[in-house]
Amino acid sequence: MSDPILHSPTRIRSLDTLFIKTYGCQMNEYDSQRMADLMKQAYGLRLVGTPEEADVILMNTCSVREKAEEKVYSQLGRYRKLKEQRPDMIIGVGGCVGQQEGERIQKRAPYVDIVFGPQTYHKLPDMIKQIRRDRVRLSETEMPEIEKFDHLPRQRVEGVSGYVTIMEGCDKFCTFCVVPYTRGPEISRPVQQILDECAGLIADGAVEISLLGQNVNGYRGIGPDGEEWDFTMLLYAVARVEGLRRLRFITSHPMEMTPELAVAFGEIPQLMPYLHLPVQSGSDAMLRAMHRGHTRDDYFAIIDELRRHCPEIAMSSDFIVGYPGETDADFEDTLDLVRRVGFDSTFCFKYSPRPGTPAAKSADDVPEEVKDARLQTLLDLVRGQAQEALQARVGRVVDVLVEKKGRNDGDMEGHTPDFKIVHFRGQPHQIGQIMPVRITQAFGQSLRGELVLAE
Ligand code: SAH
Ligand code: SF4
Ligand code: F3S
Repeated sequence: MSDPILHSPTRIRSLDTLFIKTYGCQMNEYDSQRMADLMKQAYGLRLVGTPEEADVILMNTCSVREKAEEKVYSQLGRYRKLKEQRPDMIIGVGGCVGQQEGERIQKRAPYVDIVFGPQTYHKLPDMIKQIRRDRVRLSETEMPEIEKFDHLPRQRVEGVSGYVTIMEGCDKFCTFCVVPYTRGPEISRPVQQILDECAGLIADGAVEISLLGQNVNGYRGIGPDGEEWDFTMLLYAVARVEGLRRLRFITSHPMEMTPELAVAFGEIPQLMPYLHLPVQSGSDAMLRAMHRGHTRDDYFAIIDELRRHCPEIAMSSDFIVGYPGETDADFEDTLDLVRRVGFDSTFCFKYSPRPGTPAAKSADDVPEEVKDARLQTLLDLVRGQAQEALQARVGRVVDVLVEKKGRNDGDMEGHTPDFKIVHFRGQPHQIGQIMPVRITQAFGQSLRGELVLAE
């Protein structure tokens, strides 16, 4: 849809530079990178580090939690000042707030040229052409059967880790969550397209690949044999891509866990022993109210199965405190689940009602101070667990993928198989290698160690 507006009659300059501000999950990070690839291909745009230097500013937004829309508007207020000085600059708002708010954004912030959603960014070059030619504002939030992957240039990677989105959207409709509305239904990319993208990243120098999606283990894509493949079949195939050393994925849903996936953790050497498996609550009543589709005992059974096949697996999860109706007893059940499972890393959030979700129709009835207190109690518990997990590595020799230079001179940085950050003295030429490091110290969120050099 377009709507003619009055622009000041400035001369149209050539577009040279692009700034992208990214919020939200790794799928947004992936999308931002793909937007940059696309704009480079279409207009030769070069990515720059600040909005002041940019001819095109794109915001890739996230709508998952509290005040997301307000954050977007206040950031836009800052870009408005830049546009007042340079009226030929282009401002676009994409991602999940773009999808959710659509043209409302341009009603409130008329200096925004383009609004688009997560499934329409492949149209950016055409949209930019049109707004420059016709002097219009555009909003493009239709959700066609996703075809964006067919329109994107080949992905390029510079570092040792590559990311590949394998599926879009979500059909789970947890009562608190906007994602099914902003990203649309679950659609899986064909197996061959994923394998080709992985092979391309490895050809560029990546040795680690993370497969991305809101529910990766709900993957159901067409295989090269014309049959539907599930996520575990895809994992075995990706692991066979020549040159791949490490394979990870995020995020999984407990409801989509299968016995085969637990077996895969024991069988596939490249599949790293780390699993982010959000549970949200340890209370059956809350899990039911949230429409999560499983009980706490189901979750325990999954963890047991995983640990049976892969004893060293590190578990990670997301939690929400203060969901409508959550009692002290419900919250105690969450603490109990955390104690029983033992998580190496955890993300904890206070519930906030999100527009258009079923939970937003219930009263947000847990008082703010109770939410705060529960969050603090939970954080104390999970931080203690995370610290123990790091401490337990001290003295051990672990394989570290050397990823980049560390912040301190002479330091290199990488991850252990179970996804802990390690700093150590090393050399830039070691980037891309997997090296044994003896862990000497544990900090709040990372480890320090020394390379174990061959005699
Ligand atoms: N697809 C993933 C994660 C989606 S969003 C999954 O199924 O778990 C990331 C996290 O944000 C969620 O796991 C949840 O913990 C949190 N979250 C989502 N909506 C929220 C809301 N309305 N209030 C607070 N936290 C929320
Ligand atoms: Fe949101 Fe639930 Fe889908 Fe995760 S599974 S994206 S929490 S609706
Ligand atoms: Fe946020 Fe959208 Fe990702 S709401 S978490 S950017 S899918």
